[in-house]
Amino acid sequence: MNQHTRPQSISQQADELEEEMMHALERVVTKSTLHYLADGEVRIDTSAAAWAKNPKAIFNMGADPRLPPMPAKPTLVDYFRCRFASHAHLLQSATHALKAGHNEKVILACLLHDIGVVSFIRCDHGYWGAQMIEPYVDEEVSWAVRTHQALRFFPDESVGYTYPEMYIKLFGDDYKPEPYIVAEYERARNHKWYMTSRLICVNDIYSFDPNAKVNLDDFVDIIGRNFRQPVEGLGLDDSPSAHMWRTMMWPNRFL
Ligand SMILES: [Fe+2]
Ligand SMILES: [Fe+2]
Repeated sequence: MNQHTRPQSISQQADELEEEMMHALERVVTKSTLHYLADGEVRIDTSAAAWAKNPKAIFNMGADPRLPPMPAKPTLVDYFRCRFASHAHLLQSATHALKAGHNEKVILACLLHDIGVVSFIRCDHGYWGAQMIEPYVDEEVSWAVRTHQALRFFPDESVGYTYPEMYIKLFGDDYKPEPYIVAEYERARNHKWYMTSRLICVNDIYSFDPNAKVNLDDFVDIIGRNFRQPVEGLGLDDSPSAHMWRTMMWPNRFL
């Protein structure tokens, strides 16, 4: 007689019941309208639609079990490891800045310049990235992250920066920056921290020595000295951008 045909013991029955209840309690995971917009659909997930399928459905209000679990008090490094979809470009840029002997503000700015892209949203990545880090870094760092988006489109011969070949490949040779990007560039050009942002552009490279070893561990001390880690955990604090980190941590909370 095999296990499957044997009559169930009381404890087996209890296990099965518990299993069933767990499934009944599984939270329905919904997508935000922004996720649908990115797929070309103007659409919203509603409770009514979910309840039409399962009248007892309840909705996810915490961690998405499909994503890497975050620690109770996450740090920036935890977001790098569990939520940032790519590290190579950021680490390469920061390594380039480190080797060129730039100060820690510039190195941190290079390390974080595209976190908008790798973790959150591409459109206006400089603005999103700057807003995310603003409460935790020196103002010069977040300013530079914000404006690098605009400066990337404009050459500066004084530091050997030309319009990126990669941008011609990415956007076509007829792409012209929108007026708000041009205006940002004009403002930045006259700003006291212009060169910090410009140095992001100079170190913002797409190809890199494939033999060069880059490792997030090399930047943990610079992060420690220059990024104010909140004691409650990044995203669980009350800073003006904590909600953005929470959204990355729990991207499918119903509300
Ligand atoms: Fe960028
Ligand atoms: Fe970049």
